[in-house]
Amino acid sequence: MVQYVLDKYDRPMKDLRISVIDQCNFRCTYCMPAEIFGDDYRFMPTEELLSFDEIVRLVEIFAKFGTEKVRLTGGEPLMRKNMDQLVARLKQIDGIKDIAITTNAIFLVKQAQKLKEAGLNRVNVSLDAIEDEVFQQTNGRGIKTSPVLKGIEAARKAGLEIKINMVVKKGMNESQILPMAKYFKETGDTLRFIEFMDVGNHNGWNMDTVVSKQQIIDTIHAEMPLEPLEPNYYGEVANRYKYSDSEAEIGVISSVTDAFCSSCTRVRLSADGQLYTCLFASEGYDIRNMLRNDSSDQEIISKLIKIWTKRDDQYSVERAEGKPTKKKIEMSYIGG
Ligand code: GTP
Ligand code: 5AD
Ligand code: SF4
Ligand code: SF4
Repeated sequence: MVQYVLDKYDRPMKDLRISVIDQCNFRCTYCMPAEIFGDDYRFMPTEELLSFDEIVRLVEIFAKFGTEKVRLTGGEPLMRKNMDQLVARLKQIDGIKDIAITTNAIFLVKQAQKLKEAGLNRVNVSLDAIEDEVFQQTNGRGIKTSPVLKGIEAARKAGLEIKINMVVKKGMNESQILPMAKYFKETGDTLRFIEFMDVGNHNGWNMDTVVSKQQIIDTIHAEMPLEPLEPNYYGEVANRYKYSDSEAEIGVISSVTDAFCSSCTRVRLSADGQLYTCLFASEGYDIRNMLRNDSSDQEIISKLIKIWTKRDDQYSVERAEGKPTKKKIEMSYIGG
C-alpha cells in the first residue's frame, strides 16, 4: 500500500465518486435547466468518456491509497450501457468494500437484479417530491413519481440497500417535507434532505432559496418526534435522526448552514477523466491524458500524491464566510 496520503487538513482519500456519463433522462430545474441543457446541448461524445478498462485501472490505483468506497454517478449513470459489467469488475478489486450508485431509479426496474448479482451494495435514489404535480415540475420532464417508486421497489426486491435523496428548495418543494417523511417512514427507507446548494453556474441559487437543516428538522419533529443518532462513519455528510416511535431514520445534509469540509474524504472523477478535489472546483486535473499517453502506474500515483497533498478545499466554509465565488463545474458533469 502507498504511504497514506493526507491533505492539508488531514483528510484521507476514502470515498471515490466516478461520473460515468454526463447525460440524464431528467432535466431537474436546479441541476440541468432546460434553457441551458436543451436539445442542442453538446454532451460528451463516447470517445471522450473513460472506458471501463480505464476506470478499472484507476480504481485499482486509488485502492492502493486506501479508497474503500466507490460511488458511480452521472448525469444518470444507468444511461451508460452494461453498468453491471463495470460493477462486477470493480467488485474484484482488493480493498474496495462498498459500491453504490446515485440514480433517479427509472432504469432500476430492468437493472436492479443484475446490478445486485454483479456486486452492487447500495443505491441512492434522487426523488424530490411524492406528489405528482410537484415532482413533474421539479424533474423538468413531466415524469410522475410511479416509475421512480417502481424502481425503488425493484431495488428492494433485489436486496439492495436504499437511501432516498431529496433536495429541498424554497418555492419548489418545501411542501413535500412532511409527505415525503411520512411515506418513507412507512417503507423504512432512509430519507435524506439536502439543503439546496450553489453547485454549477445556472441554478439560480441565493440564500433565500435555502431551507435550513434546522427548519427541516423542526417541521418534522413537530409532527413526528425525532432523536439524534451518531454518525455511521467518519466523514458522513448526513446528520442522522430516528423517529421516537419507529426504527426508520432520516438524514439532513447541511452543506450550506453547517459545512462539513473539515472531514471531506471525497475525491471526484468526471466522465472524461478529470479529477476534482471539490464539488465546487473550477479546475480539474487531467488524468485521462495520463492513461492515454501510456503513463505508468507509478507516474499516476506520483501525480495523485501531488494533487492530494496540496489540496486545501473548503468551499462551503468559504461560502459561509462570504468569499466571492469563481466559475464552477456543473453537477451533471461531476455527479453528486
Ligand atoms: P453514503 O453515506 O455513502 O450513502 O453517501 P453520501 O451521504 O455521500 O451520499 P450521496 O452521494 O447520495 O450524497 C448526497 C448528497 O449530499 C449529494 O448529492 C450532494 O448533494 C451532497 N454531498 C455529497 N458529498 C458532498 C460534498 O463533498 N460536499 C458537498 N458540499 N455536498 C456533498
Ligand atoms: N443542491 C443540492 N443537491 C443537488 N443535487 C443536484 N443538484 C443539487 C443542488 N443544487 C443532488 C441530487 C442528487 C445528486 C446527484 O445531487 O438530488 O441526489
Ligand atoms: Fe438528472 Fe440527478 Fe441532475 Fe436530476 S439531479 S437532472 S436526475 S443528474
Ligand atoms: Fe468537500 Fe468541497 Fe464539499 Fe467542502 S465543499 S465538503 S471541500 S466537496
